[in-house]
Amino acid sequence: MSLADRERWNLKYSKGYRTSLHKTLLEFYHLASLGRALELACGTGENAIFLAQKGFQVDAVDISDVAIDVARNKARELNLNINFIVADLDEYPLKEEYYHLVVVFYYLNRTLAAPIVRSLKRGGVLIYETYNRNHLHIRGDFNPDYLLEEGELLRLFKDLQVIHYREEFNVSTFVGRKP
Ligand SMILES: C[S@@+](CC[C@H](N)C(=O)[O-])C[C@H]1O[C@@H](n2cnc3c(N)ncnc32)[C@H](O)[C@@H]1O
Repeated sequence: MSLADRERWNLKYSKGYRTSLHKTLLEFYHLASLGRALELACGTGENAIFLAQKGFQVDAVDISDVAIDVARNKARELNLNINFIVADLDEYPLKEEYYHLVVVFYYLNRTLAAPIVRSLKRGGVLIYETYNRNHLHIRGDFNPDYLLEEGELLRLFKDLQVIHYREEFNVSTFVGRKP
């Protein structure tokens, strides 16, 4: 367990930081067949909740128990049954050939690329969006290890069929399907 990461994120969430629903999810979620969905690094759960409202059976993982508590409470208020999991994604084993949809927003962990591809069912869809190197022009103190190189999502997910790829200044977005 990466205690430093958990503490850092817990502190941020305890001070009121909240994640948000991403427009890229609204744009592309419908490309996946309705079924099981996984959100990695789900924060306070807005994207997982959206998917559950659309009828997906959702697993959602984050290292921050503070964020997951917020997410669980929100889901409960909305009467949604979402499997929120507190876990360190450096150690969490993803189920194989299981998900119709996997989504990752603003969390870069390159070692997860192969497990993510394996976790998708054939025909399953991946939506991955996070910051690229241009983010340093906006936040000079951002750790460059967590920023994508140009075209990197295309290389990390070369085993998927590309449905959509864009780099909009500091954000790169990949949408692909497992053949
Ligand atoms: C920038 S936030 C993004 C949250 C959400 N995906 C969004 O885009 O709104 C990064 C998230 O990654 C989580 N995180 C960081 N390291 C992690 C790890 N090793 N395992 C699981 N989650 C982690 C943090 O707790 C935080 O919720």
